Amino acid sequence: MKSTFTPALSRRGFLAGSAAAGAAVSVRPAWADTTTPFTLRAAPGRARLVPEPWGETDIWCYGGAVPGPEIRVRQGDRLRIAVANALDEDTTVHWHGLRVPNAMDGVPHLTQAPIAPGETFTYEFEAVDAGTFWYHPHQRSFEQVGRGLYGALIIEEANPPRADREMVWVLDDWRLTQEAGIAEDFGGFHDMSHDGRLGNTVTINGRVPDALPVQAGERVRLRLINAANARIFALDFGELAPQVIALDGQPVTPHAPQHARGWVVIGPAMRVDLMIDMTGAPGETLTITDRFFSDRNFEVVDLAYSETPLRDAPPDWDMALAPNPLPEPDLARARRHDVTFTGGMMGGMVERQMGLSGSGGMMGGGMMNRMHDGGIWFVNGMAAEGHILDPMLVLERDASHVIAMTNATAFHHPIHLHGHSFRVIGRNGTPTAHREWQDTVLMAPRERVEIAFVADNPGDWMFHCHILEHQAGGMMGVIRVA
Ligand code: C2O
Ligand code: CU
Repeated sequence: MKSTFTPALSRRGFLAGSAAAGAAVSVRPAWADTTTPFTLRAAPGRARLVPEPWGETDIWCYGGAVPGPEIRVRQGDRLRIAVANALDEDTTVHWHGLRVPNAMDGVPHLTQAPIAPGETFTYEFEAVDAGTFWYHPHQRSFEQVGRGLYGALIIEEANPPRADREMVWVLDDWRLTQEAGIAEDFGGFHDMSHDGRLGNTVTINGRVPDALPVQAGERVRLRLINAANARIFALDFGELAPQVIALDGQPVTPHAPQHARGWVVIGPAMRVDLMIDMTGAPGETLTITDRFFSDRNFEVVDLAYSETPLRDAPPDWDMALAPNPLPEPDLARARRHDVTFTGGMMGGMVERQMGLSGSGGMMGGGMMNRMHDGGIWFVNGMAAEGHILDPMLVLERDASHVIAMTNATAFHHPIHLHGHSFRVIGRNGTPTAHREWQDTVLMAPRERVEIAFVADNPGDWMFHCHILEHQAGGMMGVIRVA
């Protein structure tokens, strides 16, 4: 298992050290204090993403670090967060996956005026659902998130399932130069029309990680958050048998990862909560490998077992999480809506193969028609420019809705809806085993996915691909709940 990850900045390029992956700073009490809002300051900064002999990297970040401060409150707490913009450009903060009121959703122009340089905007909302969430800008996110503006937002259950330890891993993928600077080629046409901005350096909590110490027999709750612009991970945990207990923050019946080979697949913006029993032997080392691109496997992190076991056999504690207060869609009465995604390199070919009209897609039948209006990706034939859009769908409030989505492109897309969680009820006509609640669903090329939810949160909500270069290339729309 050799890393083929390029260039020299893969983990194997460095000497092993002893420190754990930089732990995110948690400042719990302040976040839930409604008298003095906590200030989250977006500003340029520096971070040690990669070890010596490389230098620090100039980034943009919250609170002087990447990831930004871990926001951690209890379910039902009220959050009041003042976002101060010390960048040279407008920004906003979106609370990804949280069911907040529309005015707090952080979408520039659509739900608020962008926060200008030097200005502050205070967000205030209740933590309705427990789970693993994150925050990031929604203004030019392909660059602002790509430079390091993001952080974890953890909402604790009143009664969490028992574990010996919890870890939060915010995954990112950076495109660095040989001097460990951020490559400045944001928004390039090739990235936009293919897989997005894939990088060459994967970090956990803002660092290329050293080996993480674990103990034989311990049970760890691992909260994975994918903050990368474009990289989809398929994490191979080797001989470990992680159990999925939540997806996108929402509890799911504990189950082995559904990938045929047991890999944990996590697209951009998605979260997966795992329970992992450390079943290896004292003194052993286990490597976690990303295998999403079969020709570009690479080693993400090593787990190093200490010499002393914690216990001899895995505990038999219950793993199930209590459900969040989500309204259950009534499938028999749900209104149906169709959404088709087209475009991108080779998109015209896929559309023809799928029996669609071949309307969009670079290098496809419709390329010339499409080039002149600037879009690369299309949602029901429209490419978005900016955030002020006529709604592509208007959903009756408090009614149940099914959206049948078709990915008529040659690429994967993690499709995100703001303001709601939805059940993923079917893939390619087959009901899903767990009817999982998600806010971001990964669609494979040519895949058809059906989602269902009650449109109970009024307002105009973004609906977009979370490969941020695809979003910038038009793969975005507005769904109105009225
Ligand atoms: Cu995480 Cu519209 O975004
Ligand atoms: Cu996409």
